[in-house]
Amino acid sequence: MDHFSLRDGVLHAEDVPLPRIAEEVGTPVYVYSRATLERHAREFRDALAQLADPLIAFAVKANPNLAVLKVLQKQGFGADVVSGGEMRRALAAGIAPDKIVFSGVGKTRAELELGLDERIGQFNIESVEEGRELAAIAAARGIAAPACLRINPDVDAKTHEKISTGKAENKFGVPLILAREIFAELAAFDGLNLRGVAIHIGSQIADLAPLEAAFDKVESLVSDLREAGHRITHVDLGGGLGVPYRKGEVLPSPAEYGAMVARATKGWDVRLTFEPGRLIAGNAGVLLTRVIRVKRGGNGAPFLIVDAAMNDLARPAMYGAWHDFDAVTPSGERMTANIVGPICETGDTFATDRDCDALVAGDLGVFRTAGAYGASMASSYNSRGFVPEVLVDGGRYAVVADRIDAAAIMEAERVPDWLA
Ligand code: LLP
Repeated sequence: MDHFSLRDGVLHAEDVPLPRIAEEVGTPVYVYSRATLERHAREFRDALAQLADPLIAFAVKANPNLAVLKVLQKQGFGADVVSGGEMRRALAAGIAPDKIVFSGVGKTRAELELGLDERIGQFNIESVEEGRELAAIAAARGIAAPACLRINPDVDAKTHEKISTGKAENKFGVPLILAREIFAELAAFDGLNLRGVAIHIGSQIADLAPLEAAFDKVESLVSDLREAGHRITHVDLGGGLGVPYRKGEVLPSPAEYGAMVARATKGWDVRLTFEPGRLIAGNAGVLLTRVIRVKRGGNGAPFLIVDAAMNDLARPAMYGAWHDFDAVTPSGERMTANIVGPICETGDTFATDRDCDALVAGDLGVFRTAGAYGASMASSYNSRGFVPEVLVDGGRYAVVADRIDAAAIMEAERVPDWLA
């Protein structure tokens, strides 16, 4: 459920008509709805109400905009970060350091040091090598880094191969069969307070069964570790719950997920952490775009050329992902179109032979469900710059990220004297 809906024939974000934002800010532009973010945050929290004091750490990579993080901070959310940059954003948004979890397969020494300097709540260690390094840095400072060991449970999340993270061949975590041995080695270091395990098996997961299978593997690991004398007080179950991208598509609800988690983790006696990203932000954003022109196709549907492109919203080009496309002021007529951006690559295609609202040059449209992994994956390919982001709150809105145009990017470049 989101707060983008037609009123008197005009698509609104909450109480703000999208044509107003297009006029005042320009297109393309990402538009987020505060009420939707809050609704999703509440729904997820309510779904976990049966658990004792879970930590919900928003996966910052899904939408790292400071204003978005601030909305979630006010909802009591922590942050799951995967780089020093994300950590700095979470802190800048006022998220308490002890609610920050640091995941990621390639944390640099400088990033580990930053996490220790900031006294973040948890490091999710992804390899024995990383664990040794973190232990040594922390011990030299006379502290013990709070940590979980991320395991790779070798479970197929049945999602797109590029966003599956819990199969044996994926680079994440340590293999389950080595987990006991690695845990024992790392737990012995003074520089680590190794207090549990973490998993995250993939993203846009549409079926609860693989998640439950992974949680079952965690359960036996935890019981083995306890038998071996380790104190296990924390388990991080990651994120990954999918969202509907097409009208009418039905996915497991947060409530169903919560019920499954409560069942699967019964009797674990640990503090659970969750790292939802897409579930919170996905349907809280749209990419608002204007049709540049409609070009007759060679042999088939016309090309609806919009001013947004794969550099602004990479998901269709990268994963063949579907995003619903709707007119801002639909006439009721339909067309079949190939919806494409202006970039010089055939891959810059949002949809092929798509049945959509009929549009002509100058009309506005939106790509839906663009609030997660939209702006955060943008590039400046074709020297197109970065599009602005707007946050709507009832009848008001604010530009929460400026447009960074090609000229601003060029300013960071220089031609050396010896070439001039
Ligand atoms: N925790 C960890 C350790 C992760 O790696 C991720 C996502 C999450 C949490 C959040 O997952 P979510 O709840 O959002 O599914 N760019 C891709 C998605 C990549 C996800 C990477 N990791 C896409 O646009 O579909």
